[in-house]
Amino acid sequence: MTAQLIDGTALSKKLRADVATRAAALNARGHQPGLAVVLVGDNPASEVYVRNKVKACQDNGLHSVFDRFPATLSEADLLAHINALNRNPTIHGILVQLPLPAHIDSHKVIEAIAPEKDVDGFHVANAGALLTGKPLFRPCTPYGVMQMFKEYEIPLQGANAVVIGRSNIVGKPMALLLLEAGATVTICHSKTRDLAAHTRNADVVVAAVGRRNVLTADMVKPGATVIDVGMNRDDAGKLCGDVDFAGVLDVAGFITPVPGGVGPMTITMLLVNTIEAAERAAPG
Ligand code: GUN
Repeated sequence: MTAQLIDGTALSKKLRADVATRAAALNARGHQPGLAVVLVGDNPASEVYVRNKVKACQDNGLHSVFDRFPATLSEADLLAHINALNRNPTIHGILVQLPLPAHIDSHKVIEAIAPEKDVDGFHVANAGALLTGKPLFRPCTPYGVMQMFKEYEIPLQGANAVVIGRSNIVGKPMALLLLEAGATVTICHSKTRDLAAHTRNADVVVAAVGRRNVLTADMVKPGATVIDVGMNRDDAGKLCGDVDFAGVLDVAGFITPVPGGVGPMTITMLLVNTIEAAERAAPG
């Protein structure tokens, strides 16, 4: 059996076309949707992510502001900048790229973002609402994975789902979204005793660890859906995920490639969240 590929690039294209239509409608009414992207320091991976986010805005009719600060920026100055963005009516979404330099408390920074502009969905008000009800925004990467399940009609109700990784950005919100969709969810992580025992029983596996070959063919139930959130480099410097793609391809029913899987979906859902924020803010 060879798994069917879940094409994140094609799905992104479709969803971004819808974003562009909604942006054009807002622009026609004089309400240009705006995203502020804040980068502190010069982490090379963050620079690439941020550049891609700004470009995606430009390509789809959203206004974007890219605020770059040196790694020496004080926490107080960053908080003051976020406060100014909170009050700026031309900005509907605020994204502070993580990680932040060690002297800045990222928790404090995230809590300073107005929840109605928190397009990352990281503010405690949105994270809490994800747990208890309707959040204003869902975190972009897990939200994008949910769009993939929908597009490929992968059943989640009653499915056994295993999430590998427990980060606030991916693992925890992913588990909550799967739970909301009716899956029986297990969260595995670095302290999990027998990872394979869990994954072998799973209809859906989401790998979000940031380490190569976390999931190999012998750990996958035949026909399962495998989602790879990882972004790593192999020994030759080539981009690869957390999953042994070549091996798992022969066992899984559906699989996301890296690149071209989850990656483009994260930025797409950021655009969706920003449009949503702008539509809510537009009068009438
Ligand atoms: N760093 C890695 N992923 C993300 C993300 O989705 N949002 C932000 N703000 N920072 C990140």
